[in-house]
Amino acid sequence: MVFTLPMAESFPCYMVRRNETENVSARVEATTFDALPAGHVLIRVAYSSLNYKDALASQGHPGVVRQFPHVPGIDCAGIVAESSSSDFRPGDEVLITGYDLGAGQWGGFAAYVRAPAEWIVRMPSGLNAREAMTYGTAGFTAAQCVTAIVERGIEPQRGPVVVTGATGGVGSLAVAILAKLGFEVAAVTGKAERHDWLRQIGAKQILSRADVLDESDTPLLAGRWAAAIDTVGGNPLATILRSMKYRGCVAACGLVAGPELVTSVYPFILRGVSLAGIDSAKCPRPQRLEMWLKLAGLWRVENLDAFASEATLDDLPKCVEQILSGNVVGRTLVLPTSESISR
Ligand SMILES: NC(=O)c1ccc[n+]([C@@H]2O[C@H](COP(=O)([O-])OP(=O)(O)OC[C@H]3O[C@@H](n4cnc5c(N)ncnc54)[C@H](OP(=O)(O)O)[C@@H]3O)[C@@H](O)[C@H]2O)c1
Repeated sequence: MVFTLPMAESFPCYMVRRNETENVSARVEATTFDALPAGHVLIRVAYSSLNYKDALASQGHPGVVRQFPHVPGIDCAGIVAESSSSDFRPGDEVLITGYDLGAGQWGGFAAYVRAPAEWIVRMPSGLNAREAMTYGTAGFTAAQCVTAIVERGIEPQRGPVVVTGATGGVGSLAVAILAKLGFEVAAVTGKAERHDWLRQIGAKQILSRADVLDESDTPLLAGRWAAAIDTVGGNPLATILRSMKYRGCVAACGLVAGPELVTSVYPFILRGVSLAGIDSAKCPRPQRLEMWLKLAGLWRVENLDAFASEATLDDLPKCVEQILSGNVVGRTLVLPTSESISR
């Protein structure tokens, strides 16, 4: 069967531009297929999602965006429209997270993405595009964090696992996956109004941010946690390292509370604590495929809809502000549509 997709001459995207006076602005624009970067596969995007890194890219953060104009969106799921690679055919359902998508190369906040075949993952059986992007980079990162803990030999009977930034994308999906695997989860949140939601997705204990913030010089605090998933960095990460039980493991992936980590070697040499660094962008392909199999199968989060809200390209300025101020709950799916510019 020949698969054909309507190929409009232009299509909407969320474009970030920098002017001569170095001012950065972002808005919905129409772009063309010719403007897309080179790549083997053209994907018609069904969904992208909003991640913290996308918010930084939308503001032209130099740590993310290397060239202007730029289209953010570090993940997407959709259907192959054209392919010069023997690995993919028009009509295939696919997804991408990470690599250089939405960073060095135009990303998923557009109706179409063009990318190298090596970046593309075939949609795992049991997931559709909406579910895949409800996980998105956040769920993929949460799965890597949980994998790091499990690979360190930590089992539920060892004690509670603390998750910071628990209502955020990575945090909330980490809570749900850990709960599914039988871990007792302590969720750290700054959102008093979201305690019930956190319990619904699997948290057993709810802590305030102040509960994992210790400003003293004490090298080791009482051992509370068998493991930790930290999405915030800074002092909370330093405090958690000092609060680990013997042979605990901390999976660290984020920096919303700050990139600094002031610590000592005591947690490592007196308690045998391990610190596992998590990077999702360059995760090697075999592990990448393994994560998606877990997310679609044994680790599948049952009520994924409870994590998802939807936004169009027109809604992005407001959503970017919300995520940068720490006010997003769960995941924001991005539909590549715009009221002002039609496909
Ligand atoms: N290493 C990787 O490959 C990788 C991949 C994905 C994400 N990340 C990083 O992981 C972090 C989380 O990403 P995300 O997409 O889940 O972001 P997100 O949805 O914005 O979640 C972050 C959460 O952190 C909490 N928070 C915000 N500001 C805080 C502060 N100043 N102090 C303490 N907690 C604060 C908030 O949750 P509460 O209100 O519940 O506390 C917020 O919802 C980001 O730093 C992101 O760059 C890294």
